[in-house]
Amino acid sequence: MEKNGKQMQCRWVIRLSAMVVVVVLFVIAGSSEKAPVRRVLRSISRRELKSSRGIQLSRGQVAMDNGLVRVIFSNPGGDVIGIKYNGIDNLLAINNEESNRGYWDVVWNKPEQKSITIDKLQGTRFKIIKNDQNQMEISFTKTWSISKNGSGMAPLNVDKRYVMLGGYSGFYAYAIFERLEGWPAVEMDQIRFVYKLRQDKFQFMSVSDDRQRVMPTLDDRDKGQPLAYPEAVLLTNPSNSQLRGEVDDKYQYSSESKDNQVHGWISSNPPVGFWIITPSNEFHTAGPTKQDLTSHAGPIALSMFVSTHYAGRDLGMEFKDGEPWKKVFGPVSIYLNTLSANDDNTLSLWNNAKQQMQQEVEKWPYNFPQSVDFPYADQRGSLASQLLIRDRYIHKKLIWGGYAYVGLAAPGDVGSWQKESKGYQFWTKADKRGYFSIRNVRPGNYSLYAWVPGVIGDYKYDGIITIEPGSNMTLNRLVYEPPRNGPTLWEIGEPDRSAAEFYIPDPYPTLMNELYNNHPDKFRQYGLWERYADLYPNKDLSYTVGVDDFRKDWFFAHVTRNGANGTYDSTTWQVIFKLDNLREPGNYTLQLALASATDSELQVRFNDGTANPSHFTTGLIGKDNAIARHGIHGLYWLYTINVPSSLLLRGDNTVYLTQSRSVNPFQGVMYDYIRLEGPPQT
Ligand SMILES: *[C@@H]1O[C@H](CO)[C@@H](O)[C@H](O)[C@H]1NC(C)=O
Ligand SMILES: *[C@@H]1O[C@H](CO)[C@@H](O)[C@H](O)[C@H]1NC(C)=O
Ligand SMILES: *[C@@H]1O[C@H](CO)[C@@H](O)[C@H](O)[C@H]1NC(C)=O
Ligand SMILES: *[C@@H]1O[C@H](CO)[C@@H](O)[C@H](O)[C@H]1NC(C)=O
Ligand SMILES: *[C@@H]1O[C@H](CO)[C@@H](O)[C@H](O)[C@H]1NC(C)=O
Repeated sequence: MEKNGKQMQCRWVIRLSAMVVVVVLFVIAGSSEKAPVRRVLRSISRRELKSSRGIQLSRGQVAMDNGLVRVIFSNPGGDVIGIKYNGIDNLLAINNEESNRGYWDVVWNKPEQKSITIDKLQGTRFKIIKNDQNQMEISFTKTWSISKNGSGMAPLNVDKRYVMLGGYSGFYAYAIFERLEGWPAVEMDQIRFVYKLRQDKFQFMSVSDDRQRVMPTLDDRDKGQPLAYPEAVLLTNPSNSQLRGEVDDKYQYSSESKDNQVHGWISSNPPVGFWIITPSNEFHTAGPTKQDLTSHAGPIALSMFVSTHYAGRDLGMEFKDGEPWKKVFGPVSIYLNTLSANDDNTLSLWNNAKQQMQQEVEKWPYNFPQSVDFPYADQRGSLASQLLIRDRYIHKKLIWGGYAYVGLAAPGDVGSWQKESKGYQFWTKADKRGYFSIRNVRPGNYSLYAWVPGVIGDYKYDGIITIEPGSNMTLNRLVYEPPRNGPTLWEIGEPDRSAAEFYIPDPYPTLMNELYNNHPDKFRQYGLWERYADLYPNKDLSYTVGVDDFRKDWFFAHVTRNGANGTYDSTTWQVIFKLDNLREPGNYTLQLALASATDSELQVRFNDGTANPSHFTTGLIGKDNAIARHGIHGLYWLYTINVPSSLLLRGDNTVYLTQSRSVNPFQGVMYDYIRLEGPPQT
């Protein structure tokens, strides 16, 4: 959560668990279901509730059991309060309140309100949607109406759905969020679901093949020493002494949406894996490179649907007075596994979870959700084409938009997808030749966006794309002309929207997460921002084109300098280059691409470090917090800066890059790529 100056204010919703609800007859009706079913349930004994398959109700609870897994829900709140699997009565944090084990929540506020509210979306009505051997689906709804304006409830209808399929050791969760026309304005900064597991069982976490480790407990964190940025803790006295002296921070386990398809926890005794499998990113915000939390110490496993992480307020959802909206988040699967009898390697659970993830991806779009708001494959459409690039300073002919990220998202401006949070987004990666096909797109109107690793800027198709149900659309080849005014004189970095290729310092030996030692993601270590002043104690970074190597000589983040006594100083970097042939008069161009910005203002000056005003300034930009949260990028910013030859010199030149805002150590920008272009050639 990034809402500055807004205070948390939790509202606890009264649980209805004490009420005796023995439901004898359930009539399933409602026009919003695909296949309404009628079902008669008889009241059952508590012993039966513990054991029988199917859907059972008892006081304040519902159980769903397919013989492999048994899931218990609060009723009608719709929280997951128990998961029984492989002989463990409950995989969830049994010492927590029932409302604090497996739940959805929303962080919201009225636009005029300073404080935020966490709404745990307690249902007021329970319904069985489907109940047969192959599929059980249940629904917990909460509804809002104009008469509740001013009651402190978020103006939202929410239908939380849980599905269990025969033979699947797990279940699926999805939710339909809705605002009707005429409802008052609201802002929402976070929508997610949370699973809190048993600490005595789940100690090993895996978020990817090379990000797996034994984790500290919450108690270890409580006893540790809080570090400079909230959530980061130095483990001073952990129960597992091997972890002593390490840093723990949930943001060190973030992933980009495109890489976040399975993550979770392993219990070794008995061997059980608890996994969150996300088969599609269509319901995520901000495109494939949006980063977010995954699993972290607790043990906790999250599915983040909306958040401002690594983006800032730009990604909060803002609904105007009267603005209607509907969106389906999920389905996402909670998958459970155990080892086969002849296997004693608990890492097999991770491999099996990855295989299951592949199967879930292949099954997408699922053919079982009963909500009419989830279209099946035959109600979706596709779009195929080829993306080419015209850059005559690289090649006279068109070149392939190889491995481009291509996506359909809400109609908007060039690049707007990275700040888009209300609609669905459908992304794919083109092949080497730029051919792509975006499948399983929900019907609707979209803009077509793309960007190509190795190429600056953003492509947008000129016109609205309308996807019709059951149709396959092809477009003639598309041509992207990236910003380019003249031949490359020099460049620093690789245009890939990340600062990963630059110099990442070693962490302080006293502030390490051992996982990231000798690891390609060294940038996830804590406190690297402070290393700048160690490496450049007196003089700021200065980079000489043709001599220095950006992999070794360009610090990954342009940060402030710790000036002692709690002050931070602004820093100015220099790029020194030679111009043997200055074309006068002529317009040179500086292409300046940033991979991140946090409360920063980048000023650019040519050959006069004190020119006032500067020759160019970004103005105050950015709230993505990627430096403090160890992301190697936040949002992407591209500036094409005209540099008249009058600012340049024959021979040695210096570009001064000043990040002028310096209140704290977390401010700064990350560069993606810088290129100086000569005047246009005819
Ligand atoms: C809801 O209440 C607010 C005041 O809290 C008022 O400004 C607004 O007009 C009301 N909206 C409707 C639709 O009644
Ligand atoms: C798509 O745009 C067309 C033309 O503006 C409009 O008529 C149609 O209603 C839109 N469809 C959707 C699903 O918004
Ligand atoms: C669209 O393409 C899909 C996948 O190739 C195919 O299954 C489907 O039949 C096609 N639909 C039409 C209307 O051609
Ligand atoms: C920091 O404060 C100390 C004590 O007030 C003072 O002696 C020292 O000069 C200050 N250092 C800087 C860099 O301002
Ligand atoms: C440089 O660009 C300006 C407009 O930005 C234009 O007026 C001027 O003619 C250009 N100079 C040359 C030499 O092309």
